[in-house]
Amino acid sequence: MTVVVTGGAGYIGSHTVKELLQRNYRVVIVDNLSTGHRELVPGGELVQADLRSQEDLKKVFQAYPVEAVLHFAALIQVGESYADPQKYYLHNLFSSLNLLRG
Ligand SMILES: NC(=O)c1ccc[n+]([C@@H]2O[C@H](COP(=O)([O-])OP(=O)(O)OC[C@H]3O[C@@H](n4cnc5c(N)ncnc54)[C@H](O)[C@@H]3O)[C@@H](O)[C@H]2O)c1
Repeated sequence: MTVVVTGGAGYIGSHTVKELLQRNYRVVIVDNLSTGHRELVPGGELVQADLRSQEDLKKVFQAYPVEAVLHFAALIQVGESYADPQKYYLHNLFSSLNLLRG
């Protein structure tokens, strides 16, 4: 079974990837590495892509037989979200809607 983990190069996502790999799932990590780190990814296939881009997401869903998606890609700095709400709208809300459309 192929599972996409968005934000899989981040804190929560990378632990989730590890658990899935231990249970023999095929894991595709979708992350733009904006706050995540390639070295955190414990395995699977890393696709550097941005969830704000419908085109990036189409490529992922066309390239892999995706059966499930675990969505952890997000920005998480509360202070920054007040200072720059539009950035958070795009990375968190708009990106999630894109993923649902994907
Ligand atoms: N860290 C916690 O203790 C905690 C607790 C509860 C819930 N959460 C939630 O879990 C989720 C992940 O949190 P985290 O702590 O792992 O954060 P994190 O910053 O470590 O990971 C987020 C990942 O998302 C990626 N990302 C951000 N915007 C992206 C985009 N537009 N396209 C592709 N990738 C993008 C980043 O590069 C990063 O790898 C968030 O929704 C957060 O609110 C976290």
